[in-house]
Amino acid sequence: MVPAMPNLQRFRPQPDKRLTFLNEFIRRPGLVGSVIPSSRFLERKIVSTAQLTEAKNVVELGPGTGGTTRAVLRALPASSRILAIELSAQFASLLARLPDPRLSVEHGSAADIRGALERHGMEAPDVVLSGIPFSTMPTELGRKIIEEVWSSLAPGGRFVAYQFRDRVSVLGKQIIGRPKVDIELLNVPPMRLYCWKKP
Ligand SMILES: C[S@@+](CC[C@H](N)C(=O)[O-])C[C@H]1O[C@@H](n2cnc3c(N)ncnc32)[C@H](O)[C@@H]1O
Repeated sequence: MVPAMPNLQRFRPQPDKRLTFLNEFIRRPGLVGSVIPSSRFLERKIVSTAQLTEAKNVVELGPGTGGTTRAVLRALPASSRILAIELSAQFASLLARLPDPRLSVEHGSAADIRGALERHGMEAPDVVLSGIPFSTMPTELGRKIIEEVWSSLAPGGRFVAYQFRDRVSVLGKQIIGRPKVDIELLNVPPMRLYCWKKP
């Protein structure tokens, strides 16, 4: 039987979530990387670039207050699953309140995707989405995360990273090859979307 889909409209980002996001940015600017969450336009472009309407298992790195997570949940089939991995304890506990049985939340680092998948009993993802700021993290950590993404992805899977700066693309080219690039101007700041497809 197909499980009933929860009404996620009620859980669109509220002004207080934007404030929570801003507060966390003020506390840890290098880790949060952006003053406000992604726009609806960027959310839509993430959904289409990652082809989420056909995905079975999704990992989201850096979901923040969950705007992108809600957009993903609206697009995903009822039988799919998503694991959201978030470094901020405050954001992770906010996300865990999202009432959707397809969502699992891990308070931890993107550097340990395979460990998180194992802990949540999830198979290799066909999509990994990332909003984490590669441009402000140490180079070695950025490399480790890209390697972790690539080895956790199922064959034919996609890695979609939305970023203001091109650091993830520079590192990615050295490790996993050249991505397809798109841009969303209707976001503050405008974002590039980099997409790699695993053979
Ligand atoms: C720019 S925000 C993106 C939030 C949300 N996805 C959006 O688009 O509105 C980046 C998020 O990545 C998280 N983050 C940064 N480094 C991380 C890491 N190594 N592992 C997991 N999350 C991380 C931050 O705490 C923050 O919530």
